[in-house]
Amino acid sequence: MALRTIRTEGDEVLTKKCRMVTEMTPRLRELVQDMLDTMYDASGVGLAAPQVGVLRRIVVIDVGDGPLVLVNPEIVEQSGEQTGEEGCLSVPGMSGVVTRPQHVKVRAQNEDMETVEYEGDDLLARAFCHELDHLEGRMYTSLVEGELHEVTYSEEEDDADE
Ligand code: NI
Repeated sequence: MALRTIRTEGDEVLTKKCRMVTEMTPRLRELVQDMLDTMYDASGVGLAAPQVGVLRRIVVIDVGDGPLVLVNPEIVEQSGEQTGEEGCLSVPGMSGVVTRPQHVKVRAQNEDMETVEYEGDDLLARAFCHELDHLEGRMYTSLVEGELHEVTYSEEEDDADE
């Protein structure tokens, strides 16, 4: 298990657009494993490669149903709307209200570069949107309605950082 340092807001790597992955090299495979280790260690539900300083289109997500590895992900369908609290491992201790689609379907490649499709509602749909935004250099803080605020203890139980 290898943990990588999570970059925090203000680090300009978080504002840059990521490059496509054309081949799953041993080095990128190691990155995927490290991203999963780092996400679980930080009790997050999602992590994107730029959050560990790598400008590649790779995302890992686990909202409690097991790990998803998304390489070169794109949203192919979305519908509905949900408004709720969102957080990010790169903005520790903070949370804000963001409106996202209620249902999202993504197409990506897995760590073996096979095409996969996943769809989800609620937190999973939110995580897809949040993590894919990271690949464009977009932080959820730019989408927050009202004020970003400190996470309180009562919220921490079901808080999900991505
Ligand atoms: Ni995030």
